Amino acid sequence: MQEKYIDETKQGEAFAILEKPENGKKLFLESYGCQMNFSDSEIVASILNEQGYNTTLNVEEADLILLNTCSIREKAEQTVRMRLAQFKNLKKERPNMTVGVLGCMAERLKTKFLEEEQLVDLVVGPDAYRDLPNLLKETEDGRDAINVILSKEETYADINPVRLGGNGVTAFVTITRGCDNMCTFCVVPFTRGRERSRDPHSIIEECQSLWDNGYKEITLLGQNVDSYLWYGGGPKKDFAKASEMQKLTAINFAQLLDMVAVTVPKMRIRFSTSNPHEMTEEVFRMIAKHDNICNYVHLPVQSGSDRILQLMNRQHTRQEYLDLIKKGKEIVPDISFSQDMIIGFCTETEEDHQLTMSLMREVEYDYGYMFSYSTRPGTPAHKKMEDDIPADVKQRRLAEVIALQGELSRTRMQGYVGRVHEILIEGISKKNKNQWKGRNSQNAVCVFDMKEGQKLGDIVSVFVHGNTQGTLLGETV
Ligand code: SAH
Ligand code: F3S
Repeated sequence: MQEKYIDETKQGEAFAILEKPENGKKLFLESYGCQMNFSDSEIVASILNEQGYNTTLNVEEADLILLNTCSIREKAEQTVRMRLAQFKNLKKERPNMTVGVLGCMAERLKTKFLEEEQLVDLVVGPDAYRDLPNLLKETEDGRDAINVILSKEETYADINPVRLGGNGVTAFVTITRGCDNMCTFCVVPFTRGRERSRDPHSIIEECQSLWDNGYKEITLLGQNVDSYLWYGGGPKKDFAKASEMQKLTAINFAQLLDMVAVTVPKMRIRFSTSNPHEMTEEVFRMIAKHDNICNYVHLPVQSGSDRILQLMNRQHTRQEYLDLIKKGKEIVPDISFSQDMIIGFCTETEEDHQLTMSLMREVEYDYGYMFSYSTRPGTPAHKKMEDDIPADVKQRRLAEVIALQGELSRTRMQGYVGRVHEILIEGISKKNKNQWKGRNSQNAVCVFDMKEGQKLGDIVSVFVHGNTQGTLLGETV
């Protein structure tokens, strides 16, 4: 299995055309990084659509180029820098074109961006997208513009995201923003600010509206969905100061799941990302209770060694993680799990590495997203620990972990063979135009021959007769 994460596989995916006939200006918008960035780009496009911009896939004709950026690893930032360099000539030819940087790199580098990258005119952090119309006025007057103020309240709850570049079948719905966890390796708490939850009414309304518009699957998004807590107040960390009434009527993630599942009973529901130290048994019970909540949890662990988990400030032990997995498997017998791993974190020994491998064998993950550790300026690990594992050791350990995940994935996929699965048709197979591709409840990808009468968005019964390492092969019954 390749090292894969959305910022490596979908990097720089430009969005499809969004038209409003009266709009005269053209926006080229590219997203890098996590699903949250893709979801944020839909908010940005929605705001700019009201400001006279239609989106375009052709950068040559753009009046405004925006890159929604990722800071999670050094490599992600390099990718964006390289992409910016490609716009240099274009900017020379079309000096009136505006180039803006959004998202986590904007937040991390702030004014430095305007100094270092001469061609950048606009820098906007993840909580400042509402200010885009004002900022664009400044750039139109020939000034550089920046807003990287982080908010304790902003959830963009009232902005109806325009769905871009999608298949019209699956959509993201953001439920929390920011993160208060402070894992020592992670830049997110610095670039996305304090954690806050979105008003459940607006979440429910968005889900209902997606269903009314033909969507068949939603993924509830947050850095840390299990930490969702709505009490009518501001950031989660101020919950202690809430009134008795607010505390009594507060809504947690499991309750939100329940509400969403009941509101759109035929919509498939997924969520991402769960954090082991905040995920509860109650969430597994909700998965078991509702047929439309998928039997799949992405549960990053980062390492199988208690010593490393502690250095990472993950706030749980190996055993607690394994107990949680066991609970999940008991409550939802057909459940699948996937992981994120960081390989070669500061001081990682061969023994720690073996513990990561043994944990993977014990859990039997369906998939994994594995990364070698990349030190991020400003994070606690960067300040206090040495990035001391040599690059070749990191690479070798990463290769071992990826190979092991490959074996585990293959075994798990084999386990799905010989049974009928409910597959949501999400698109056409890349390899064969006469085949659909979709996923089962456990998130395994399945391809099968098209049959008459089937269309995008249908849920069909597919008998799985074979598999590769990452894909199920089937035929409709
Ligand atoms: N809770 C978040 C995690 C965001 S980061 C979520 O919604 O997914 C996604 C993954 O990137 C992490 O789980 C971790 O495995 C990896 N990652 C984060 N910081 C990293 C770093 N400094 N080096 C390498 N990988 C990192
Ligand atoms: Fe990052 Fe840990 Fe939050 S990985 S996003 S600090 S849960």
